[in-house]
Amino acid sequence: MDKLDTIIEKIDKIKPDLDKVALKRAANILKNDGLVAFPTETVYGLGANALSENAVKKIFIAKGRPSDNPLIVHISKIKDIDYLAKDIPQNALKLIERFWPGALTLVFKKNKSVPYSISGGLDTVAIRMPCNKIALSLIDTCGFPIAAPSANISGKPSSTEYNHVFNDLYGKIDMILDGGNCDLGLESTVVEVFEDRAVILRPGSITEEMLKEVITNVEVDKAILLQNFKDLPKAPGMKYKHYAPKGKITIIDGNMENTVKKILFFLEEDKNNNVKSLVISTYETAQFYKGENIFKIGGKTDEKEIARNLFSILRKCDDDNIEKIYIESFRESGIGFAIMNRLKKASGYNIVKV
Ligand code: TXA
Ligand code: MG
Repeated sequence: MDKLDTIIEKIDKIKPDLDKVALKRAANILKNDGLVAFPTETVYGLGANALSENAVKKIFIAKGRPSDNPLIVHISKIKDIDYLAKDIPQNALKLIERFWPGALTLVFKKNKSVPYSISGGLDTVAIRMPCNKIALSLIDTCGFPIAAPSANISGKPSSTEYNHVFNDLYGKIDMILDGGNCDLGLESTVVEVFEDRAVILRPGSITEEMLKEVITNVEVDKAILLQNFKDLPKAPGMKYKHYAPKGKITIIDGNMENTVKKILFFLEEDKNNNVKSLVISTYETAQFYKGENIFKIGGKTDEKEIARNLFSILRKCDDDNIEKIYIESFRESGIGFAIMNRLKKASGYNIVKV
């Protein structure tokens, strides 16, 4: 692949319309089937014109993404779903009213307008209306929906800061809009909606509990729950590996005392073996690891903070060439369910119970 001269533009997150020239430049690139990375409130997206098969194909190449993994289509007006999807269930309209614009992606039956390269060959399409103002202004300026996966090399943690996008994609895409850090830090909740129920395909900041306030019948896809079993055999190859830094992650799950003891034991062992390791701790447990290599992720029960920091900390581990990463397990309710889902995948289900 030829190296591209990636254009970088800084944009004001609060008042993106002040940067009209930059937005127009980005929209022009997208109109000409180019790729533009842009911030959303969840993570940075790698955008292409969703209605152009040629543009969408470039996303898969730039990311190194398997072509059967479908993309989310981003819109700026609710009425845009009519062009992209059909047979919208009543339940979906309720969710849209409550959670859009925001971190909720809804899966519908797709219309002919959506290329199969977006849906990975499926007859469905995932749609989201983000609430980040830069994202909304960009879609508006384009006048067409934008297909965007997370703006990272396939398999790595999603990009939650401009420099993550730069490190992964500079020279591979046409433009990066630098809109600062993402507010949420975890990808959107993906939900398939039917007349009688909604099924969570990927947990996120919009939690099962929040969805249940709107729709009574909310299920979690069995594939996610299955992966909660500690004895689940490792999938062949890298099938389950996502969000992964270079270092090997171990999740330690148990009460605080046992967890800390086990982590200190592992750190000592690594020191003796000349392995560069690190612990990701909470503010509450940091005191127990004095003198050790440590990143603090947030308060034990402040799930929003943990979610916001998770991917950026995993990337910092790579910057420091950490070979082994130990992290305490979090409770799996609320946003914690999404945090643990990402962590388990990042670790390849490497969980030690104590
Ligand atoms: O927050 C987000 O969702 C970010 C920002 C950029 O919007 N995007 C994102 O995209 O995380 P990506 O491609 O990294 O993840 C999209 C997820 C994948 O797990 C994909 O399999 C699922 O959505 N997905 C997309 N279309 C689908 C469909 N038609 N049916 C089921 N799952 C779908
Ligand atoms: Mg992704």
